[in-house]
Amino acid sequence: MACIVTKDLIVGYGDSVIIEGISVQVDGGQLVAVVGPNGSGKSTLLKGIIGLARQFGGQVYFKDREITHLPPYLLTRLGIGYVPQVNNIYGPLTVRENLLLGAYFRRDRAETAKDLNEVLSVFPELARKQKSRAQTLSGGERQLLAIGRALMGRPRVLLLDEPLAFLAPKTALLILEKLREIKERGLAILLVEQNTFLALENADYAYVLNQGRCVAEGKGKELLQDASLQERFLGLPKGVRTQAPEM
Ligand SMILES: Nc1ncnc2c1ncn2[C@@H]1O[C@H](COP(=O)(O)OP(=O)(O)O)[C@@H](O)[C@H]1O
Ligand SMILES: [Mg+2]
Repeated sequence: MACIVTKDLIVGYGDSVIIEGISVQVDGGQLVAVVGPNGSGKSTLLKGIIGLARQFGGQVYFKDREITHLPPYLLTRLGIGYVPQVNNIYGPLTVRENLLLGAYFRRDRAETAKDLNEVLSVFPELARKQKSRAQTLSGGERQLLAIGRALMGRPRVLLLDEPLAFLAPKTALLILEKLREIKERGLAILLVEQNTFLALENADYAYVLNQGRCVAEGKGKELLQDASLQERFLGLPKGVRTQAPEM
């Protein structure tokens, strides 16, 4: 069963339509990427799924249940974790407090404590800094914390808005490694990224957005091999790139 599906989803703000009918599918255990240039509507698509932008038409399903028009807080409780691109942690609070905030709606204390230990074991980088204020963390650590906080809600799907932005290549690879570990536990991951190369290289399946429309879809590595696609939409150097960028 698919974990998240959108059917001809139309999303925008106020009276303006930005996403003009997009259909995506993410299964459990899959990392699906949405790539496209700045302003192509990647963040808007995620906001449309989670109900933070205006849905003009189409449907969103979570495990075959229609969730279009449900409020964001209910979607969190159903098992959809959303990590926005910015303001995704609380600087004055400690790492541990930020993680516990991700479980604020849960009443199962023993299970929550278990999940906290599990998240800390997946992210030893955070375990070492549990008592530090989040504002003292590096950019990469902040992204790990934001993802860890979402995991504390015990989601079945993670919606991630550009977790690799502004990170050094080495840090971006570390985050991708964590995402692989998370998906191997059966979670579905929808990753929106402007870092096209890394996203496609690691995606099981991917969609290319341009000006609010899906202009291509396929297996991540196949899209990477498509030179004309790269030239037209992805801003990658001409020709096929098969090597990871230099560290
Ligand atoms: N809150 C908003 N209100 C109105 N327009 C917005 C808002 N947020 C984004 N947009 C517009 O939607 C378009 C797509 O933006 P966005 O989804 O942020 O693209 P991306 O994430 O791919 O960079 C842009 O033209 C942007 O100006
Ligand atoms: Mg964006």
